[in-house]
Amino acid sequence: MNPPNLTQKLDARKEQGAFRTLRLSALSIDFCSNDYLGIARGRKLTHDPGLSSGSTGSRLLAGNYPLLNMVEEEIATFHHAEAALVYNSGYDANVGLLSCVPQKGDTILYDALSHASIRDGIRLSFAQAFSFQHNDVEDLEKKLKAASRGSIYVVTESLFSMDGDFCPLEPIVELCTRYGAFLIIDEAHATGVEGAKGEGLVQHKGLEHACFARMHTFGKALGCHGAAILGSTLLKEYLINFSRSLIYTTALPPASAGLIKASYHLFPGMEAERAHLRALIKQFQAALLPYTRVGGVSPIQAVLIPGNEAVKSVAAQLQESGLDVRPILYPTVPKDAERLRIVLHAFNTHEEVELLVNLLRKKV
Ligand SMILES: Cc1ncc(COP(=O)(O)O)c(C=O)c1O
Repeated sequence: MNPPNLTQKLDARKEQGAFRTLRLSALSIDFCSNDYLGIARGRKLTHDPGLSSGSTGSRLLAGNYPLLNMVEEEIATFHHAEAALVYNSGYDANVGLLSCVPQKGDTILYDALSHASIRDGIRLSFAQAFSFQHNDVEDLEKKLKAASRGSIYVVTESLFSMDGDFCPLEPIVELCTRYGAFLIIDEAHATGVEGAKGEGLVQHKGLEHACFARMHTFGKALGCHGAAILGSTLLKEYLINFSRSLIYTTALPPASAGLIKASYHLFPGMEAERAHLRALIKQFQAALLPYTRVGGVSPIQAVLIPGNEAVKSVAAQLQESGLDVRPILYPTVPKDAERLRIVLHAFNTHEEVELLVNLLRKKV
């Protein structure tokens, strides 16, 4: 299901003769790219014949190339989506989606702990927007009841970046279905980690068809850079025409597209790493430190130490012992919810987690 304005606005573009598509150029005399000195074309930065250093322009001009299209097709197939559109980062993807899809007269309901990129996208939109309390399905329903005009968009994250907790996906899907709202899920931190193949929370629960759009990032578990929005072919067409953070920027270089492709060939098979990561999370949670905010079985674990100075001091002491643990301060998180954001990885060992837990026990 797509909101009605997508087709209307695309039709208007077609009538104006201004409809945009992603084209591939096979023409060799280049009067189009921004490669003014010929550095990218002449492969002057790398001798690897597979890697052109720059894309040389926007996807809508010289910056589109077969490898990027192939990567999008593979990503769409892997995530059971009709289409995927690659952006230069998750920040760009969220801003580009939320600033152009919801229209004046529409309503956006977003989780109160949503990432800055979601908030910035909403700020650029002409739709009205209200937050609902974090992961609070009752509050979301109250706001859905109150939102009577236009299309309604519900935006949340599958795995929250600061609390490490998951959104209550099934009840949110149920509410969106009941109220006819369009659901947008940011899978930034769940990509590569959640689900048997790291496909993300939505697909893990078999709810991909209940989402209007999903956003996956490549700079976190996937170990490279960039992001994709998954959705219908119509949504992709719409974004190509109206999403300013896609249109007015130089596309990712072929080297990045190659890395994204390689990562999509690698991470689905990393079951052993995901199993070890889960074991470390369970070990950490079993220690049940005072002030640990037990979120989900996720790599992000929050240890609350209220006060910017207090949390900075504990982080500094851990760092002196060789542990790279960072404090998250107000105003990034609410006052008195300052915390150590512990991120567990498949390459950490049980001994390292034991050391961390023992040191934390003495400090908090
Ligand atoms: C929930 C969430 N969405 C989006 C982003 C932005 O992703 P990227 O780092 O690829 O710009 C982040 C990054 O921190 C994030 O945590």
